[in-house]
Formats: sequence, structure tokens, C-alpha cells
Amino acid sequence: MAASPPVPVVTIDGPSGSGKGTVSRELARHVGWHLLDSGALYRLVALSGVRAGLRPDDVAAHTALARTMAVQFDDDGRGGERIRLDGAEVTRELRSEAAGQGASRVAAWPPVRAALLERQRAFAEPPGLVADGRDMGTVVFPEAALKIYLTASAEERALRRYKQLKEKGSDANLAALSREIAERDQRDSTRAVAPLRPAPDARIVDSTGMSVAEVVDVVLSAGRAQGLWG
Ligand code: C5P
Repeated sequence: MAASPPVPVVTIDGPSGSGKGTVSRELARHVGWHLLDSGALYRLVALSGVRAGLRPDDVAAHTALARTMAVQFDDDGRGGERIRLDGAEVTRELRSEAAGQGASRVAAWPPVRAALLERQRAFAEPPGLVADGRDMGTVVFPEAALKIYLTASAEERALRRYKQLKEKGSDANLAALSREIAERDQRDSTRAVAPLRPAPDARIVDSTGMSVAEVVDVVLSAGRAQGLWG
């Protein structure tokens, strides 16, 4: 039997608030590819732990949840995602900064990362995958056809996160958010396993002062130049 051709993957990595979630979703919709929101998987592990009443430092029990939790990603019909955990909708709860902090804590544990590896790779299905995260280009999809590392100034990232939370009707405080984002960046980029850093072959895009549409255009042109889409 002939081996099936590899599924093309575009990775979009970067720090919190760099806009990679929105850009990835727009890009996936535009080219008709699947989307992997890998940050949501880490958030789901942390949330599952809270719901199961686990001690926050219980690595083995969180790892077991990373393997067994039942997650479902759907389109919400309004341009966003709807995420379910063990059948219950958790989309809004998952977006809180508290869930992000919990995710960043469990994401520093190698067994949790290993447990999520195959789950993430399984998202690569024809016609292609846009993978959004921190280590998509460095660890999960090192053979990706196109790697983007999206960044923006710390001020702009905090402000974007603030607006995003406000739009979703959540409470937000800009000064506290800036502090939390800086803390999360620090933890994500200094951890021993899969730290946040651009892959050597990634194209770095600084989105400070750019609109989502402008960033999507940059990625679309890069993909077109590589023959990934028309
Ligand atoms: O992207 P998002 O803010 O949802 O990610 C939440 C946290 O999950 C990050 O701060 C990071 O610690 C972790 N994460 C990761 N590797 C990924 C995606 C997210 O470590 N590929």
C-alpha cells in the first residue's frame, strides 16, 4: 500500500496576546484547513484538574487527565470556537487569565507535554492544519511547511488581551493583566522543556501596530510563495 502523502502544516507560535489565536483561526478559515488551538489543550488539563479537585502540584494525576479527558472543538457559528470538556461547554471559563495561568503551570511539566503530543499531531488531517501555540514549530511539527513566530510589544499584547476579555464580558484590569502576561512569558520562555522560542527556520513577524487582516495577508503571501495554496 502506498504511504499517504504528508499533510501540510503551518505553525504559528508566539507569546500571549501576540494575536496568534485570531490570526490562526482567520487563516484556517481562509484556506479551508483544520485548526489546532494547542493552548486550549493545556488550559483544559488545568481546568480538568480543578474540577477533579486535584492538588495543583500533582503531576501524575494531571498527566492522566491529559491522556483521558474528553475534549471537543466546534465552530460556534460566529467566527469563534466552542470547546467542550467531558460534554460540558467551558469556552468562556477557559479564556480567563486564571485558566491561562493554570495552563502555564501544567505546561511546564514534561509528562503532561508528552501526553498531549500525539493528541496534537492527530489534528493534522487533509487538506492541511494551522497549528497555534508555543512549540508547534520547534517540537510538535518540526517538519512544518511554513513556520511563523508572531510577536508584538508587551504593552500592545496586554492591551489586546484586555480588549478581548472586555468584549467577552469578562472582568479585566490592564495593570494586573500586564503583570500576569509578563509572568507567563517569563515562565514559558525559561522552562526546561519546550521553552517559548522561535524555531531556527521560523519567519518572525512583529505585529505591533498591524491589524489582524494585515498579519493574515503576510502569512497568506508566505504560504503562496511556497505553493501551499493559490
Ligand atoms: O495560547 P494560550 O494562552 O491559550 O496558552 C496558555 C498556556 O499554555 C501558555 O501560557 C503556555 O504555558 C501553554 N502552552 C504551551 N505550549 C503550547 C500552547 C500553550 O506550553 N503549544
